[in-house]
Amino acid sequence: MKLGVPKEIKNNEHRVSLTPQSVGRLAKLGADVLVEKSAGLEIGFTDEMFVNNGATILDTAAEIFSNSELIIKVKEPQEEELKYLTPEKTLFTYLHLAGDKQQAKKLLETGVTGIAYETVTASDGSLPLLSPMSKIAGKISIVVGQYYLLKPNKGIGTLLGSVDQIEPRTVTVIGAGVAGKEAIKKAISTGAKVNILDLSPPKLSDLEAEFGSTNINYLISSQERIVECISSSDLVIGSVYVVGKEAPKVVTKEMLSEMKSGSVMVDISIDQGGCFETSKPTTHDDPIYKVEDVTHYCVTNMPGAVPLTSTLALNEATLPFIEEIVKSGLSKSLSDNEHLAAGVNIMGGKIIHPAIKEALN
Ligand SMILES: NC(=O)c1ccc[n+]([C@@H]2O[C@H](COP(=O)([O-])OP(=O)(O)OC[C@H]3O[C@@H](n4cnc5c(N)ncnc54)[C@H](O)[C@@H]3O)[C@@H](O)[C@H]2O)c1
Repeated sequence: MKLGVPKEIKNNEHRVSLTPQSVGRLAKLGADVLVEKSAGLEIGFTDEMFVNNGATILDTAAEIFSNSELIIKVKEPQEEELKYLTPEKTLFTYLHLAGDKQQAKKLLETGVTGIAYETVTASDGSLPLLSPMSKIAGKISIVVGQYYLLKPNKGIGTLLGSVDQIEPRTVTVIGAGVAGKEAIKKAISTGAKVNILDLSPPKLSDLEAEFGSTNINYLISSQERIVECISSSDLVIGSVYVVGKEAPKVVTKEMLSEMKSGSVMVDISIDQGGCFETSKPTTHDDPIYKVEDVTHYCVTNMPGAVPLTSTLALNEATLPFIEEIVKSGLSKSLSDNEHLAAGVNIMGGKIIHPAIKEALN
């Protein structure tokens, strides 16, 4: 089977879908792995390393796409890549179709089969290919949140944790799943007070059992509680997710007037359309903007800030699925493995995944 690894072209995206080590594992199984020139160079994976592990290097994206059956990527195809996609090709990557309906429509028109990392499931109901990137985005959210609270970065001018007798500041995390939990852990480690809001009572109980209740509030999410929490917070993290769907808008524009001037909101859910009404996608080059003097950080590829860590974590999660595809072939893998099949979002110009269908109608 011919596998293609194009160089990622999204803004500041230096992750690569396969490491040289992963290529070696797949080559041993008989795969023919085509890697675009310099695809991993920015994170220290030279073309020579790929070749030494059995890859063939091709000069252009056009050659990679036209010569591969399965194209393995990291981010959703960018405008310039759509012309390479045809009904004969299968894409295995993050798609986030519900987050950008325009992009979804254009991708559908290509007729490509799209298996989305973010809807592949595990037997415990978790999302094993979304979770490593969510963990990383959750950790980063507190780092960038603290950065934009600094006065030179137009923030309130606060450190999240306490200093001697000075009270710690408050962080609110809405959506306590994989990304939210990492944000919570990191917020706790700074010494900040933390409000945690989610719709799932068992999730909140589990978190309380793990983190205790000193300086932490566990709350069933509601509009009133969100307003209460965000009005006293320096930093608000949005990390809600409903599989395949556009993110619910948990903070409306009107609620922003309750927030402190110079406070910061990080919308991790921006790749699913954003969970704050005032969110719009931003890039690592130009990551923030202000609405009512509240800083919004809405970078759609946050893990791209740590591309080496993210590439290694992503490969750890995706490789078993790719190995299965190489061993059994694509159609057998999809019919035998319901968890991989749950990743199929589009095929032959049609939306296959029920939640995506509902979200895009
Ligand atoms: N911006 C980025 O670079 C980046 C990177 C990785 C992940 N993400 C995104 O982060 C989001 C979260 O991913 P995850 O893996 O943590 O998901 P998850 O499914 O583990 O967690 C989502 C949580 O949101 C909660 N939730 C759903 N609706 C809610 C509501 N209305 N109010 C409060 N809580 C609600 C759920 O109960 C769940 O606990 C996803 O949209 C994912 O695509 C973004």
